[in-house]
This record gives sequence, structure tokens and C-alpha cells, in this order.
Amino acid sequence: MRQSLVMGNWKMNGSVQTIQALLRDIRDHFPTHAPTTAVFPPAIYLPLVADLLKGSPMTWGAQTTFAKDAGAFTGEISTTMYKDYGCRYVLVGHSERRQLFHESEKIVAEKFHHVKEHDMIPVLCVGETLSEREQGLTEHVLTQQIRAILKDNSSEFKNCVLAYEPVWAIGTGKTAAPEEAQAAHAFIRGLVSETNKTDAEDVPIIYGGSVNGSNAQALFSMPDVDGGLVGGASLDAKTFLDIVSCIKYY
Ligand code: PGA
Repeated sequence: MRQSLVMGNWKMNGSVQTIQALLRDIRDHFPTHAPTTAVFPPAIYLPLVADLLKGSPMTWGAQTTFAKDAGAFTGEISTTMYKDYGCRYVLVGHSERRQLFHESEKIVAEKFHHVKEHDMIPVLCVGETLSEREQGLTEHVLTQQIRAILKDNSSEFKNCVLAYEPVWAIGTGKTAAPEEAQAAHAFIRGLVSETNKTDAEDVPIIYGGSVNGSNAQALFSMPDVDGGLVGGASLDAKTFLDIVSCIKYY
């Protein structure tokens, strides 16, 4: 059975003080009936967030990981270290990681499988740039990004979340029209069904790219849009809760 999700990607934002205030405000007004809701703080604040969310229906995840358990990898944090703190979700292949940190399809695939091997849930981000969209390459890019994950079995997309995040919509205030998002989500679901029809039915595909309190409802009402991956708007408690309240249930 497919699940609805709202995920807040804080990126490299926040401080001990602002995080305490933000989570207090969200917790104080968190609805009784809410979808699965997770926040993705900068890694250094994860123990703080894990602590602040104790006893709350919300959960949390990591913004990236490194696909080795331990060793001489200065500056990196391993999946097992996140697991040590009770991490549930890990973002993989966010366009900022792909573009600014040169993460190749191979690296993204390694991280995806490493997260699954450690029984956590990867949130695989895919999406085209503006120039790719203008050249009519959206479906081609999505196909490549989804197929890069395929390994040697037919159930890669079981227990994972997919996020369609058109790069041109991230942090720009330009959201994909609900019909554009729906078309991309349906296409992605079709790609998954080429390997496993049950997984295609079950995998949540969430939308990211300038989601806010005013456009969430229309986006989430699309049949293949199962929620949102929210960047900037997740840093404001009221807006984030407005978005959470727009979710549909299965
Ligand atoms: P945005 O970011 O909501 O600020 O556009 C979304 C994301 O990068 O996940």
C-alpha cells in the first residue's frame, strides 16, 4: 500500500537555537492525523534533532551518506554512523550533490544500495535541468537516472522513496505545473513497472521544487504525486505545517 510523505530538506541551514524553535513550533501544532513526515537537518545537528523529536510522530533523515562503513575517508559520515542514531531515511542523488559535489550516477547508485543494505530507506532524487527540458530530454534523463540504480535483481525499488525534483524548480520559486509533475511521476512509475509492477504501485513518488503552502494542494491532488520534498518552505513552521495539511491519504 502506497504511503504519503512530506519531507523537509533543511540543506545547510539552521543553528541550535533556530532548530530548537522550529521543531518546538512544528511539534506544538502538529496535526493528529498527518502523513509520514521527516526532516533532514545538517548532519551535525542530527543527534539534537533525534533528541528533540523523541515521542513525536515525526522522524528524520540524513541529507547524504558515504557508501563505506568506516575507514580513511576524512570528513565523511558513514551510513552505519547515521544508523547508530536511529536514522530512517537518507537522501540520495539530490541535484545539489550531483552538480556541486560531482556525484556521478555510479556514486549515486552505490549510496542507494548501501543505504538499503543497512535497512534504511533511500530517497532517490531525479530530475532534469532547464536546458534538458527545453531540448525535450526530460524522459531521457529520468530513464537514465532510474536505470542507473538497477543492479541484479528485480526489486530495487521496494522500500525506497523516489523524488521527482526538476532542477529548474529547486529554490527558484518556479514550481512545475501539477500536470507537468503528474506526467513526470507517471513516467517514473512506468519505468519502475518495467522491473516490478508491485513495486511500481507501492513506491511513493514525491515532488520537490519550490513547494509552498499555496501550491501544495494542487500538486498533491495529482494521482501519482504522493507528497513533497520541501526545501526553503520547510524552514518555516507554519508553512511546513500548511504543506503537511495538504496531503492526501490512501
Ligand atoms: P526548494 O528545494 O523547495 O527550496 O525548491 C527543494 C529541494 O531541494 O529538495
